[in-house]
Amino acid sequence: MNTIVLTGSQSGMGWVMRQHLESQPGIRIIGVDLPGKDAEIEADLSSPEGCQAAVEQVLVHNKDGLSGVIANAGVDVNNPSLTFGVNYFGVVDFLNGLQPVLAKAAPTAVVVNVSNSIAITPNIPMEPVEALLRGDRAEAIVLMKDQPQFSYQVSKFAIARWIRHHAATDQWAGCGIRLNAVCPGPVMTPLLEHDLEDPVKGPAIMGLPRPLGDFTTCEQVAYLAEFLLSDRARFMVGQLIMIDGGIETTFRAHDYPSVWHVQPQGARL
Ligand code: NAI
Repeated sequence: MNTIVLTGSQSGMGWVMRQHLESQPGIRIIGVDLPGKDAEIEADLSSPEGCQAAVEQVLVHNKDGLSGVIANAGVDVNNPSLTFGVNYFGVVDFLNGLQPVLAKAAPTAVVVNVSNSIAITPNIPMEPVEALLRGDRAEAIVLMKDQPQFSYQVSKFAIARWIRHHAATDQWAGCGIRLNAVCPGPVMTPLLEHDLEDPVKGPAIMGLPRPLGDFTTCEQVAYLAEFLLSDRARFMVGQLIMIDGGIETTFRAHDYPSVWHVQPQGARL
């Protein structure tokens, strides 16, 4: 039996991922969500204590190892403390806490639900991103004082960078644990419905280009997450996969791939 821990399992994309994965033979989902949402593990991942409690509950029943984790829980509010707590520290602390049981059952995989907003939002401030990557929660929050509207993008940019910084290291790939991310465009879930009510965000989201004529669906993200967890993706490490019907490519068509500039003596073959 493959046991997958899925955060934010009781709503939106998490709920559809749960339904999809549970319909596959041999997969057991342990859902983690806020108290009162009827998940197997009830925890508030926004605080270090809540995160630690969630890790402990997973470990109680899975000392012999986990097959994978989908770090999907997230919020989109103009509150840097809460947003950084759930979307950045709630992922990093949770994954670090589960690293030993993922290593024990290796080869294993982690999929983080990031967002295409890391690539399609202009002028994301980098100082708070760097503060998050240093683990300096207080400084990161202070740096958002005059720009709380970037809270979500900063949190997602930081977790994307964290994945890139860690995926190929001894602690993750070196232990047989693959870290990758899905980066959906807008997906109709309670989170997006809330965003659409915002007088600034709503029209901006509805005005996004749709090269394929539609927005991403929960099912499409679930299929991608399933693939990234599976052995078929066993050589994928540290990838941030946009799944947005071409929105990111519309805006960033000329940015990627970009040349890696190194001094000749530092060049690697
Ligand atoms: P949703 O609001 O339907 O689901 C989010 C889930 O996370 C809920 O079950 C919620 O209870 C849980 N959660 C929130 N705070 C929590 C906390 N402190 N502790 C534990 N669980 C908590 O939203 P949706 O859209 O399904 O979002 C899932 C992920 O996808 C999020 O990380 C979001 O940022 C990301 N995403 C969403 C997009 C969209 O357009 N809906 C686009 C790109 C990424």
